[in-house]
Amino acid sequence: MDKALRRPVIAGNWKMNNTPEQTKALIDALKPLVADADCDVVVCTPYIDLYAALDAAAGSNIKVGAENCHWAAKGAFTGEVSAEMLKAIGVPYVIIGHSERRQYFGETDLTVRDRTRAAVDNGLKVILCVGEVLEERQLGITDEIVRKQTKVALDGIKEEELASIIIAYEPVWAIGTGLTATPAQANEVCAVIRALIAELYSKDAADHIVIQYGGSMNDGNAADLLAQYDVDGGLIGGASLVAEKFAKIVEAASK
Ligand code: 13P
Repeated sequence: MDKALRRPVIAGNWKMNNTPEQTKALIDALKPLVADADCDVVVCTPYIDLYAALDAAAGSNIKVGAENCHWAAKGAFTGEVSAEMLKAIGVPYVIIGHSERRQYFGETDLTVRDRTRAAVDNGLKVILCVGEVLEERQLGITDEIVRKQTKVALDGIKEEELASIIIAYEPVWAIGTGLTATPAQANEVCAVIRALIAELYSKDAADHIVIQYGGSMNDGNAADLLAQYDVDGGLIGGASLVAEKFAKIVEAASK
């Protein structure tokens, strides 16, 4: 196996931050800082900011993503946005199954599966989030939880569709808390996910799938995390809101 088979992906998850005007300013600040990146660079923004983000990022190496999408193409789903709609405005990436969606908005493994299906059907690249809560880690069931979340989400996804899937391992206890998984802890669970991909698909699929770590990744700890064999990138919250910090993480991934 060769880590070089996988091009790192550094994605910012802006969560519920930034107006369209702030979006433009942040992307404009980021563009020159990441222009020479030797990894994929993505910023995922609130729906309201997507047009501004696409416009600001046009012609640069920064790709834009949404933070969720619905499983239906259209219909009576107040407040939701479909994968088809994202595709229609040219958004290439979407985060699905983020722990904040699971925690606060009733997202389940099954809705994550359905949203993933819709995104893939519409040609979007999915950043599929999985991860255990603190209690699950303390109970020693992290691997079991992460395997189940991943397996259900990928139910129905064929091997040739895996090129559209990035998996983000985000231990919930590390998100927004300043508590980062150690590089070894991050690598251990990313390796469990990769082994599951080999089991469900093939060794070749496992060798090629991009698995990110997320959870208090920042410009200080990124290099050590990204150096791990099974960690192919990062999904970054807080530090993605500051151009210089995010750019340093991109730089660490480009080495
Ligand atoms: P923080 O980097 O703020 O911990 O957030 C991580 C995250 O949830 C990215 O999706």
